[in-house]
Amino acid sequence: MAKPILTLHALEKQFGSDTALHPTTLTVEKGEFLAMMGPSGCGKSTTLRMIAGLEAPSAGQIRHWDRDITNLPPWERDMPMVWQSYALFPFMTVRQNVEFGLKQKRRHALPDRRRKAGEWLERLDIAAMADRRVNQLSGGQRQRVALARALALEPEILLLDEPLSALDAHLRLQMQAELKRLHGELGITFLYVTHSQSEAFAMADRVAILNQGHLQQIGSAREVYRAPANRFVAEFVGASTIITGTGGPDHRVETAVGTFTAKAGHPPQPGQLATVLIPSNAVTLSATETGAENAVTATFLTEEFTGSFVTLYLLLADQTQMKVQLQQSELDRITLIPGDTVHAHWPAEAAYVLKEG
Ligand SMILES: Nc1ncnc2c1ncn2[C@@H]1O[C@H](COP(=O)(O)OP(=O)(O)O)[C@@H](O)[C@H]1O
Ligand SMILES: [Mg+2]
Repeated sequence: MAKPILTLHALEKQFGSDTALHPTTLTVEKGEFLAMMGPSGCGKSTTLRMIAGLEAPSAGQIRHWDRDITNLPPWERDMPMVWQSYALFPFMTVRQNVEFGLKQKRRHALPDRRRKAGEWLERLDIAAMADRRVNQLSGGQRQRVALARALALEPEILLLDEPLSALDAHLRLQMQAELKRLHGELGITFLYVTHSQSEAFAMADRVAILNQGHLQQIGSAREVYRAPANRFVAEFVGASTIITGTGGPDHRVETAVGTFTAKAGHPPQPGQLATVLIPSNAVTLSATETGAENAVTATFLTEEFTGSFVTLYLLLADQTQMKVQLQQSELDRITLIPGDTVHAHWPAEAAYVLKEG
């Protein structure tokens, strides 16, 4: 494996008696787009701020290539940060804001700064408003200025902390596509913090999922979806129905709503707790009982349309909520109104058993 551009080694942060980040070790590859995600308060910003040099770690080490940067001030790191609240100078013009970053770096003479700022204004499609003051711009335009200012420094690593969360949904999607395009074109390493999994999965090569200061899993979207490390990740990703029971022989799991065979993931241990994930897109519904194995009877609650998919929510006898994702075209086969009884079944090969302990 190539040498990582960034290494966090047993990195830890305490605020008084609270631990924002428990000892965490991870590596980032050059050119990678890594998203750190998790619920609010899980330690994402703290981690990013330590990488930027804005917060001192309580313990552990941060390395940029082979260089220990743990105790370097922010301006001696090659890692500008872009965040939700822009941190621009409101009374400076767009151009002055972008040039300001370059001036700070002292690497560039004035004509050079002019040219470079101009290039980035073009690149981010804000050249037409170069002489406007930042406080005369919309949120989306400001975010472009903040990006231009950071990227004009031509950093090796760009840090982004929920940069799109102040934008409306339409603009957010547009900027997601643009960030992904820029990342592809520039070959810069992006470290992107977000609480939104749709944002993370839309852009990132890998995602790191945090919960209460503990790194839960790091991997591609596919890995996290198909093989969640634990129940927290499974719930956070929300792609499956989760049913717990007791392991039996031959991949069987006994639960309050029936005995199932679950062949994916970790073989259930006889007599031990077994948590089974049933991917919402692996379930087949029918109005009548089919006699299939891995079947449950459920009550239809409601449906939710997104794009060409529909998600149906069912209630099982033990009050577990089951999620079933269908193509909208499949809805023609079955008509359901809330309160209806419906039969669901799934293949044993799709049912995934989590690793326990
Ligand atoms: N300067 C600070 N002083 C005390 N506690 C803090 C400080 N910054 C963050 N925290 C706490 O650390 C935890 C993680 O915060 P943060 O990294 O901002 O979470 P996230 O960005 O994932 O929402 C939270 O419990 C938060 O209250
Ligand atoms: Mg945060």
